[in-house]
Amino acid sequence: MKAEADSRALWLVRLPQAFTGLEAEILHGLGAECVRKTGRDYLLIRIADPSRIRDSAAAKFLRWNLPVHHMWPCRPRETEGFIEKAAQAAWRKFGGARPQTLLAGPLDPGSPNRYFKTLASNLRGRALQLFPPECSSIRDAEQQDAGRETLFLLVGEEGLFCGLGSPLECNGYHPGGTRHIRQTSPAAISRAGAKIAEALHHPALRDVMPEAGAHWLELGASPGGMTAELLARGYRVTAVDRAPLDKRLARADGLQEVCRDVATFMPDAPTRYDAILCDMNGDARNSIAHVVRLAGRLNAGGIVIFTLKLTDAETYQAINDRVDEVVNRAAAAGLGQLAVTHLTYNRHEFTLVLKRGTSPCDDFGFPDHAGGGSIGP
Ligand SMILES: C[S@@+](CC[C@H](N)C(=O)[O-])C[C@H]1O[C@@H](n2cnc3c(N)ncnc32)[C@H](O)[C@@H]1O
Repeated sequence: MKAEADSRALWLVRLPQAFTGLEAEILHGLGAECVRKTGRDYLLIRIADPSRIRDSAAAKFLRWNLPVHHMWPCRPRETEGFIEKAAQAAWRKFGGARPQTLLAGPLDPGSPNRYFKTLASNLRGRALQLFPPECSSIRDAEQQDAGRETLFLLVGEEGLFCGLGSPLECNGYHPGGTRHIRQTSPAAISRAGAKIAEALHHPALRDVMPEAGAHWLELGASPGGMTAELLARGYRVTAVDRAPLDKRLARADGLQEVCRDVATFMPDAPTRYDAILCDMNGDARNSIAHVVRLAGRLNAGGIVIFTLKLTDAETYQAINDRVDEVVNRAAAAGLGQLAVTHLTYNRHEFTLVLKRGTSPCDDFGFPDHAGGGSIGP
């Protein structure tokens, strides 16, 4: 008897190492089966309902995802003419789909061995020669249209995996979601600078990026890695922390340092912010309470970037409950969820992107005077 074809879609999902112990529950939550582990932290899965990769409670655990429309299981190092054959296959299979560009990356981006990084870069270079010239006009991945399809190619010891997806659907501009940012540079004030650089991809993907010159309120700013990154992008920052900022930020243009406990921080009556960043340590339920208290000073349409520390929440259920609790508290204050994601430089924590509704008594039912009335000098 002929075996029935498996109608479930094949997908590549990236599961951060912080959650590898929860793999069985995450797969169950997705309604998916693991075909095999690939690269350092990818799973090749079969899934009956791919919308669960973006909509289910398990989705937040996946850093990046790609439908696998073509794969070539092989050992690239030992395959003669790998680049030429892979580039020709990409052109034959995807040339007609007119992707906005092609981006290639290694399945093991953290590897100190540069072999697959170089192979990916050479593969992109050769494939771009075959695709129409407009595919080459995107020189920086962050120039992509977040909603248009890109051809992503991932290479590693296991071979080649290709798929079409928009950066928004895949959850990041770069293949795998990561752009390697040096964290050990002597100029970096803290690792958190790389974290906010990646976090800012998420408002950019959703077209809600604050303009240069926008005023950020930063809660839990010391020593100032994120502050430095925001200032470098031309933002103004009011940075609140009970610990001082790094001396290198002294007298930085656009910075107002407030050295005190966030609980006692009250902005002057007319002050409004375009965005709030909260990276306070401690229980996320306390941190979100401070954001909620200050959200009355956030302009309509303003965003919040919030590090949701998973203190004492270790199990799949406890993590989901904690995230739901924080998201629900924010929603009750008019801050709607745009993204909950795990970033490359996140540890046992998620990054939330929230947005304040657009009218005085806005779409989230948040009256403008609520919170605002209780905040003042
Ligand atoms: C993870 S660190 C922030 C790192 C920072 N975002 C950076 O880029 O370097 C957390 C900070 O939250 C601050 N913090 C926690 N609770 C606070 C509170 N109630 N008031 C003021 N600062 C607080 C701590 O002092 C600490 O500096």
